[in-house]
Amino acid sequence: MSDAHVPLTSENAQTLLDEALVARTKAYVPYSRFQVGAALQTRDGTIYHGCNVENASFGLTNCAERTAFFRAIADGHRPGDFAALAVVGDTRGPIAPCGACRQVISELGGVDLPVILGNLGGEFMATTAGELLPGAFDQQDLPRD
Ligand code: THU
Repeated sequence: MSDAHVPLTSENAQTLLDEALVARTKAYVPYSRFQVGAALQTRDGTIYHGCNVENASFGLTNCAERTAFFRAIADGHRPGDFAALAVVGDTRGPIAPCGACRQVISELGGVDLPVILGNLGGEFMATTAGELLPGAFDQQDLPRD
């Protein structure tokens, strides 16, 4: 299979946004009350849901995007396996992933991964992991033996 990412059709994007909306309902957010959902599609068509999971020790919160990726990795997937990611929250415009998630999306999804960002009002935008975090720190930046 080619390494190139196929551009998402608007139908695919809408399907993935709908999946992210379902994922959002599972959020564990007793502190912020701000539910976020993510849907991560693999190249073989599997869709992993992610939601934000908060903690009384606030800094331990895991965002929806990272939950989706970590689920997929724990299920045996690896960088190169992913086709697209959608994220939704109750934001004024399309949701903006946090910096930590941008770093994880970049490494695990790859810079060309299509990312769809949406909100509850049906607004959405299409971007890529590389556009969300230009110049990300990556494996090449680590010293080699
Ligand atoms: N959050 C996400 O899960 N993803 C985002 O893209 C933005 C922020 C979560 C973290 C926290 O549980 C809540 O939203 C408020 O910051």
